[in-house]
Amino acid sequence: MAAEHAPTRQRGNLPGEPDLVGRRQELSEAGRLLTSARLLTLTGVAGVGKTRLARRVADQVRASFPDGVWLVELAPLEDESLLPQTVAGALGLGDQAARHPVQLLADHLRDKRALLVLDNCEHLLTGCALLTDRLLREAPRLRILATSRQPLRLEGESVMVVAPLPVPASDVPHRPERLADYAAVRLFALRAQQAVPGFVLGPENLDTVVRLCRRLDGLPLAIELAAGGLRALPADQILYRVGRRLEPARGTGTAVALTRHETLTAAIDWSHDLCSPGERELWARVSVFAGAFDLEAAEEVCSGDGIARDDVLDLVAGLVDKSILIRQEQGERVRYRLLETIRQYGMDRLAGLGLVPALQRRHRDWCHRLACLAETEWLTWRQEEWLARLRSEHSNLRAALEFCCSDPADARTGLEIAAALWPHWICGGYLSEGRHWLGQLLRLVPEETVARGRALWVDAWLATLQGDTSSAQPRLEECRALALRLDHPPTRTRCTQHLGGLALFEGDFPGAVRLLQEALAGHRTAGDRNGVMTCLYQLTMACALYGDYRAALFGEECLALCESAGAQWSRSYALWALGLYTWRQGATRRGTELVRDALRTRWAVRDGWGMAQCLEVLAWIAASSGQPEAAARMLGSASAMWRSIGTSQSGFRHLAAGHEQTAARLRGDLGERAYEDAFRQGTELAPDEAAGRALHDPAPSNPLTPLADL
Ligand SMILES: Nc1ncnc2c1ncn2[C@@H]1O[C@H](COP(=O)(O)OP(=O)(O)OP(=O)(O)O)[C@@H](O)[C@H]1O
Ligand SMILES: [Mg+2]
Repeated sequence: MAAEHAPTRQRGNLPGEPDLVGRRQELSEAGRLLTSARLLTLTGVAGVGKTRLARRVADQVRASFPDGVWLVELAPLEDESLLPQTVAGALGLGDQAARHPVQLLADHLRDKRALLVLDNCEHLLTGCALLTDRLLREAPRLRILATSRQPLRLEGESVMVVAPLPVPASDVPHRPERLADYAAVRLFALRAQQAVPGFVLGPENLDTVVRLCRRLDGLPLAIELAAGGLRALPADQILYRVGRRLEPARGTGTAVALTRHETLTAAIDWSHDLCSPGERELWARVSVFAGAFDLEAAEEVCSGDGIARDDVLDLVAGLVDKSILIRQEQGERVRYRLLETIRQYGMDRLAGLGLVPALQRRHRDWCHRLACLAETEWLTWRQEEWLARLRSEHSNLRAALEFCCSDPADARTGLEIAAALWPHWICGGYLSEGRHWLGQLLRLVPEETVARGRALWVDAWLATLQGDTSSAQPRLEECRALALRLDHPPTRTRCTQHLGGLALFEGDFPGAVRLLQEALAGHRTAGDRNGVMTCLYQLTMACALYGDYRAALFGEECLALCESAGAQWSRSYALWALGLYTWRQGATRRGTELVRDALRTRWAVRDGWGMAQCLEVLAWIAASSGQPEAAARMLGSASAMWRSIGTSQSGFRHLAAGHEQTAARLRGDLGERAYEDAFRQGTELAPDEAAGRALHDPAPSNPLTPLADL
């Protein structure tokens, strides 16, 4: 864990440098344009290599952007209204803001020297243009590199048209020793070697390869597909078949040049011909996934009606061989993805078969099962695994929810999915997005059901965690009335619990403890372990802040429950609350250990909200035990993290008193100037650095002077 999250000064989220054939001139041109223009858009036809080039350009200019180069992949996003959240997510901001996400982004980027790479904007042109315009206005040192089949059409936009790779001209007899000058031929040779390891470009195949590259117009995607065909056929057969596919598009007897789009379609048609009937069917079906998917998902969603579940693996392998599916390794899991053009082709086929709604429904059902299973297995040793899994399925979950919102008949399932995903919305940093879906679906499904009750309390919980208590209140009132009408005690208990949570976040400790105890009794009677655990955590926090000795009892029981279940992330919440109480009782070293332990788990799962909460309390502890500089630094880091997720500790009334007392004490101990300096240093640390340093500072000893009552 430590190595994976080792503090690093390299900021950004660029995956490794991709291999790039040719494009030397484009690279230097793009680099030059980016020093003058603040928005550079790479345009060009599908499959020409815009994304590939943009990634390399971004990698090349990294040193000029000390606040990082951030890649945002927009191809899987369909709902334009989620664009700001998607960008915030890529920046690692979480979207836990109650504030408008565009404002959150603008505030975060305001003083940053960063480069945003918005990849594949063509289907969200208006949204991208509006967002880009706003961000460039508000963040004067920000630059944006976009890829899109069409320009964004903004003032000041610099547009660079990406042309296909150069091919040898037909009328000049080519000289073998000069062929390496042509990037299209080099790309074919490279991909051919990857497909068939013994492949070499030599006198016997040179002519065919050159003709093939020329026929394919130097289009990289078409060339990759043709090279993938070498596993099945020799090069001259490919040339012949590709040529046959190109002829009808050209029209008989005319010399009309094909558009590049037609060339690409012909190349994809040809790859399609090469597939077995089963592979073709699967290609169409997997195009229902947004972003990547794993084998299990393909088996669940795409088998049946002519494809046996056991055959899916072989069909997937066949599509990987033909360069239709891209195989990616993500930790220990293998996932598959389609390039956007290839996915659209599959979608068109699916539409031709009239199967789009059927597949979308199966995709939705798979997401529904996934969300429900994650919730059932939440309080188990699989908790961290589930968090990671849901995070990697985020685009798919989103697509399923979008589908549910498009049809009232499906909205009921959508409401269940959105409510069951509460752990994902909270820990994954998607509070606003969770509320977006819950809000839409609650409007679409007004029927008074238990599912509605659940969605209401989940939405209220998310709002409370954003410090947006005024939105939480009416949701809980409706939930209470509903529970009474339905005569459904579990809903009433949950409602009582979250009213307690609301009271806590508003700083009403006695009220919080009373409601939470009532809810705890209800959960115990119903045997709801999840409810018992979350209630115990909230009670521990309330009692720790209120100085009530029962914090130890609630905290120990909560910890024991999480430990017996093996639920690490939940355990970190119990540890944090117990650590706070232990320190307030005077056991500084032990308190620090507990909160640091909590921080380690939250760091590992990238829980930004939880990390800020740990740094905040570690700062209070350090300030009370003679480490004022470290304390001021951690306070700064916590503040920056709260701000980056769109809130501040002042939005949480229960933490405000501790924070203000700590800041006042530090100003006194260090003097205004030194305090501000240390605080600023803390704000400048990246979250990884801040967490790494907080864990490696020497442990403080017992307090010099404890904090007064909070
Ligand atoms: N110069 C290159 N060197 C190596 N591979 C390349 C190059 N250019 C493109 N490719 C490959 O060709 C395929 C298509 O490229 P890419 O996805 O970048 O196209 P695009 O223009 O972004 O297409 P779309 O408009 O569909 O997003 C990819 O598999 C990519 O890796
Ligand atoms: Mg692209």
